[in-house]
Amino acid sequence: MTTIESSPSDTVIELTQLTKDYETGFLKKKRVRALDHLSLEVRRGEIFGFLGPNGAGKTTTLKLLMRLIYPTNGAARILGRSIDDVETHSRIGYLPENPYFYDYLSGRELLNYTAALFGIPGDVAAKRGKELLELVGLDSNLANRQLRKYSKGMLQRIGIAQALVNDPEVVFLDEPMSGLDPIGRREVRDLLLSLREQGKTVFFSSHILSDVEALCDRAAILSRGKLHRCGTVQELTESEDSAFEVVAVGIHPSALERFSKIISSQSVTATPNGVHLVLRDDDAVDDALALIRDCGGKLVSVNPRRVSLEDLFAGTDQ
Ligand SMILES: Nc1ncnc2c1ncn2[C@@H]1O[C@H](COP(=O)(O)OP(=O)(O)O)[C@@H](O)[C@H]1O
Ligand SMILES: [Mg+2]
Repeated sequence: MTTIESSPSDTVIELTQLTKDYETGFLKKKRVRALDHLSLEVRRGEIFGFLGPNGAGKTTTLKLLMRLIYPTNGAARILGRSIDDVETHSRIGYLPENPYFYDYLSGRELLNYTAALFGIPGDVAAKRGKELLELVGLDSNLANRQLRKYSKGMLQRIGIAQALVNDPEVVFLDEPMSGLDPIGRREVRDLLLSLREQGKTVFFSSHILSDVEALCDRAAILSRGKLHRCGTVQELTESEDSAFEVVAVGIHPSALERFSKIISSQSVTATPNGVHLVLRDDDAVDDALALIRDCGGKLVSVNPRRVSLEDLFAGTDQ
């Protein structure tokens, strides 16, 4: 069997100790650290989820990568080159958070305008525009409508289309599913998967865990500007915290203390008619079952507890 070793060139996005302080307040005297020594790598062809609650620093990171703002410290490389190298920017696409476009343009005009900025010739731009409108599901009727008459979902789609005008190798999307209804979210998910099929690398931010769980090869969890965790969704969820849940009924509240004392449990919670336990290992489960019997209780269930991304999020202590 041949294994394909990943080589350094497989790293397409590389952040090294990236740090950003905003200067705020009267005379900009107060500094707020929005990003704190963030280091991570994204490999070619993966969909990478950049996850964190509001205010974690996701948009700041994307703006730094796009050179819309400048880092206080640290560096970043995209496609093997420093982000200061402006040429790299012709090979990447970007969907800002809450994009604002000149809204008297139609969707089609926006795509032509963006293509012109990249120096793409008119005939190529027209063909590309048509393909992209089809890709994001805007028919010609909608494409000719002014953007000010677009719904949030339609704006998000045309925003994704404009991020793809230059046929980028790497696409950065800041909350691409925000403001979309469930069908719209599903469509954007399918769109991101089709980008991966085309060999593109997708880096997208989200505060919505299920989007990341459903889509990503790997994800990073950001919390208050710091990297909290990074890995495959599986690695993130089968953490050292994985445990068993045991539910039993028919246990008198006075017996609950015995559970806390005897069993090395992570948590003991009284339910109206019994107890809910989270236990670390098989031995603790055995102890718990014995104790449940001893207290005259009845076992309802024993289940392995998979840590969900929601739990990981809770662990960020925001
Ligand atoms: N222009 C700015 N000036 C001052 N503080 C800012 C600015 N932009 C963002 N912040 C602060 O930086 C932190 C990170 O914000 P942001 O990157 O927008 O997070 P996210 O996109 O994860 O919600 C927040 O505390 C936010 O209030
Ligand atoms: Mg944001």
